[in-house]
Amino acid sequence: MKIAVLGTGEVGRTLGRKLVSLGHEVTLGSRTADNPAATGWAAETGGACGTFADAAAAGEVIVNATGGLVSVAALTAAGAANLAGKVLIDVSNPLDFSGGFPPKLVVPPAGSCAEEIQQAFPEARVVKALQSMNNAVMVDPARVPGHHNVFICGDDPSAREVTADLLRTFGWRDDQILDLGPLSAARGTEPLVLLWISVSNTVGTADFNFAIAH
Ligand SMILES: NC(=O)c1ccc[n+]([C@@H]2O[C@H](COP(=O)([O-])OP(=O)(O)OC[C@H]3O[C@@H](n4cnc5c(N)ncnc54)[C@H](OP(=O)(O)O)[C@@H]3O)[C@@H](O)[C@H]2O)c1
Repeated sequence: MKIAVLGTGEVGRTLGRKLVSLGHEVTLGSRTADNPAATGWAAETGGACGTFADAAAAGEVIVNATGGLVSVAALTAAGAANLAGKVLIDVSNPLDFSGGFPPKLVVPPAGSCAEEIQQAFPEARVVKALQSMNNAVMVDPARVPGHHNVFICGDDPSAREVTADLLRTFGWRDDQILDLGPLSAARGTEPLVLLWISVSNTVGTADFNFAIAH
């Protein structure tokens, strides 16, 4: 599949590397075509890179791995026409680091980053996924032993299914993929990032995840 990964940070590069290893044609998107993190990633992985618009135009599926507070700006640069009708998997978190660490959570007016994106790009098929864990665990769930979950939500059931299929190829089992239904569920999953930070500081590792017992 042709996949655009928008974001040249650790998350975008990790997801992009995994997707290339699975045989996808990945284009990593950035504000600039010559971003060194992106060109280095392309040389290392055999993937392509370009601007946000180049990547989004090339992708059949879009992954948003930009900062949650700049995601609408990044996606605007990607171009609404390049997002229309496509599954847009949003892994962002709305964190404000301006006051230092730990960051504060910003609740966007729409209720969550994912809903903010959906509102700005109504023709995109937004699915929130993966943002409640570290990027290494996103693409290799076996790093965490035992039962643990990945949450997905979105208003388009077929887009959630496309996302779940991709997650299965990452190694997520069906019993780990918790489909929470509508995109408004992101109002609950995005704030988990603050708990994640506290737990990480306490247990001293990023190789952990949330598990739902019921
Ligand atoms: N770190 C993790 O393991 C983890 C886990 C779960 C969720 N997340 C979330 O995943 C997302 C990506 O995290 P990250 O640490 O990999 O990267 P990041 O530093 O949060 O974001 C990097 C990307 O944001 C773009 N960007 C920065 N300012 C921008 C602006 N004003 N307008 C448009 N684009 C802008 C950058 O563009 P350029 O390429 O041009 O520099 C870059 O591509 C974040 O939302 C984060 O909260 C992270």
